[in-house]
Amino acid sequence: MDLLVKLYDLPDPAPVLKKLRKRGIDVRRALAPEKNLVVDWVRGSFSKAWACETEVAFSRLPITCFIAVDDGTVLGFACYDATCKNFFGPTGVEPDYRRGGVGAALLITSLLAMAADGYAYAIIGGVGPVDYYKKIVDAIEIPRSTPGIYRGMLA
Ligand SMILES: CC(C)(COP(=O)(O)OP(=O)(O)OC[C@H]1O[C@@H](n2cnc3c(N)ncnc32)[C@H](O)[C@@H]1OP(=O)(O)O)[C@@H](O)C(=O)NCCC(=O)NCCS
Repeated sequence: MDLLVKLYDLPDPAPVLKKLRKRGIDVRRALAPEKNLVVDWVRGSFSKAWACETEVAFSRLPITCFIAVDDGTVLGFACYDATCKNFFGPTGVEPDYRRGGVGAALLITSLLAMAADGYAYAIIGGVGPVDYYKKIVDAIEIPRSTPGIYRGMLA
């Protein structure tokens, strides 16, 4: 299902970003020269479909993909304005790095970028972990949004 998030009422990302920086993890917008590396990593760690969406994020300027990096290695990513305008996602974190704040840092940073672009609300499309989005950004379910825009998608 799809979720709706208020972009004018987001949590402060500073504490989680500071915590990650202490562990040597940076969250930042991806650079164009990193496209192949990031897209290949998304394809290998997640799926071909998410790699396609990440490529679209890299085709925009500024690039609508944030990454988490530890010592030259990408360990998490989040895209927006990739599947549809106003959509957040896809996003993912390497299994060994989960439950440490990386996903939340990528999510809040991306949503703040969407707010800066002028959106008032974001849609998180085709969500898996609904409770995660409810917990971090107080997302609410959009009624009758399954399968939403993904109806009839080739796979
Ligand atoms: C969903 C995902 C991105 C979360 O990344 P993460 O780095 O583990 O998230 P965080 O550590 O920032 O989690 C923040 C909080 O949400 C909670 N949380 C994390 N994953 C959760 C889940 N699947 N369901 C419910 N709560 C979750 C954590 O317990 C944490 O709470 P805490 O701060 O009190 O400990 C990661 O689990 C992932 O890559 N999953 C596979 C891909 C996926 O499903 N992507 C989303 C598609 S819509």
